[in-house]
Amino acid sequence: MKHLLSLKDLTTEEIFNILEMAKKLKYELQNDIEHKILKGKTLGMIFTKSSTRTRVSFEVGMVQLGGYPLFLSSQDIQLGRGETIEDTAKVLSRYVDGIMIRTYKQSDVEDLAKYGTVPVINGLTDLFHPCQVLADLLTIYESKSKLDGLKLAYVGDGNNIAHSLLYGCSKVGMDIAVATPKGYECNAEVVKTAKEYAKLTGVNITITEDPIEAVKDADVVYTDTWVSMGQEEEKQKRIEIFKHYQVNGELFSMAKEDAIFLHCLPAYRGYEVTSEVIDGPQSLVFDEAENRLHVQKAVMALLL
Ligand code: CP
Ligand code: NVA
Repeated sequence: MKHLLSLKDLTTEEIFNILEMAKKLKYELQNDIEHKILKGKTLGMIFTKSSTRTRVSFEVGMVQLGGYPLFLSSQDIQLGRGETIEDTAKVLSRYVDGIMIRTYKQSDVEDLAKYGTVPVINGLTDLFHPCQVLADLLTIYESKSKLDGLKLAYVGDGNNIAHSLLYGCSKVGMDIAVATPKGYECNAEVVKTAKEYAKLTGVNITITEDPIEAVKDADVVYTDTWVSMGQEEEKQKRIEIFKHYQVNGELFSMAKEDAIFLHCLPAYRGYEVTSEVIDGPQSLVFDEAENRLHVQKAVMALLL
C-alpha cells in the first residue's frame, strides 16, 4: 500500500488491518500508552477547501504519533497562484514524508501521487472521501461487533461520501442501498466498480429513487449535506429537489429497531436530517467524528 487515493487502493484485508490498528491506537491513547511511531516524520496537509474534522484530526493525530504536521492552505502556498500540481508534488516530496490533500478534482490527487515520491492521502475530493468511510466502518464495527451481513442505507445526494460508501461497504461485505433523486445519482463508473467488488463478497447493492425502499431493514442509516463544497450556488434548487430525502423520525423508523444513524458532518438540521434523529439516542455522529482521528493515525502509521 503506497497511497490512499480512494478505497480502490485497499483490499478487504487491508481495510480490516487499518480498523484493527485504529482500535489499538485508540486504546493506547485512552490509556496513556505512548505510541510515537512516526517520530521525526512530517506530513504536508494541502487544503483548497474548508475543513474542521479533517484538518484537526490529521494535525492532532500526527502530533500524537510523534510526527510534525504542516497545514498548507492553498491561499498561502504557490499552488493557489498557479504553480502546477506536478511541481508542487516534486518540491514537497523533497521536504515531507507524506502529503494529505483536500481538493476538488480527483485527478489532482492522482497527479500528486504520480509526480511526487511520497505517499499521498486523499482528505476529500469531489469524487471520494476514503478516510471518512474508514472512520464510518470503524464506528459501525464498534457498535455492531461485525460488518459482514449488515445493511447500510444512504439517503440523499449521490456524492463523494456515497461513492466511498459504495466501495467501502462492498469490500467489507455489507449490503448497501443508495436512494437519490433523479439527476443526482452516483457516478455510473463508481457504481459499476462497486458492483464488481460486490460480486466477490456476495453483497447486494441497491440503487433506487425511493428512500423508504433503501432504509427498510437497514442496520445503519446515513446521510450527508445536500449542498457539497463547491455547489453553494445550487443551494436553493437542491433544497427543493431533495426535500423528500430528509432523514426524519418517520423515515428512520423504517430501519431496524436497533439501527444507528451516521453523518460525516457538517450537518444541516432541518434539511438532510432532523434534530430528532441526529441528536437522538441512536445517533453516533460524534463517535464517528472521533474515529477520524484513530483511523487516520492507522493509515499514516501504515503508509508513512
Ligand atoms: N467530515 C469531514 O470531512 O469534515 P470536515 O469537512 O470538517 O473536514
Ligand atoms: N459531501 C460533503 C462532505 C463534507 C465532509 C462535501 O463534499 O462538502
